[in-house]
Amino acid sequence: MVNVLFVCLGNICRSPTAEGVFRDLVRREGLDAVIKTDSAGTSGWHIGAPPDGRAREAARRRGIDLSDLRGRQTRAEDFNDFDYLLAMDRRNHAALAQLAPQGREDRLHMFLSFAPQLSLTEVPDPYYGAGDGFEQVLDMIEAASRGLLDHIRATDLAR
Ligand code: 4NP
Repeated sequence: MVNVLFVCLGNICRSPTAEGVFRDLVRREGLDAVIKTDSAGTSGWHIGAPPDGRAREAARRRGIDLSDLRGRQTRAEDFNDFDYLLAMDRRNHAALAQLAPQGREDRLHMFLSFAPQLSLTEVPDPYYGAGDGFEQVLDMIEAASRGLLDHIRATDLAR
């Protein structure tokens, strides 16, 4: 089993979108018995909340359903429970690095490091921006999800 956690600030825009996109890809490739997904926010601002309506709508237009997801906050135990912790931006990465038990830091990655062809480091926060931010976020997330799944296939599932 490979456990994957997507992390942003609020857990209502970027990380639930990433969870939904990656989960859909995993299902379509028939790997949902071996790869488990979740998402969380480094803040506690939206605990128990569904994803932002704009994120749900943008995902729905690409055939992705986020309606079952609910916000939760990251915790230190996530570094024991998940093999991959994927930060959407540097601020999330720094907050997770603070939380990581010693020896577990290698589980933490910038999500876009799995889409090097984009030449981007961060998935920008779409919460306060114009509506098209959600489309750009989805494009980045689709690319990094593909790269992450290829990486997991090559490293974790190749045995
Ligand atoms: P997310 O976006 O980190 O992608 O979920 C945000 C959602 C809410 C807030 C900030 C970012 N907020 O300030 O409440």
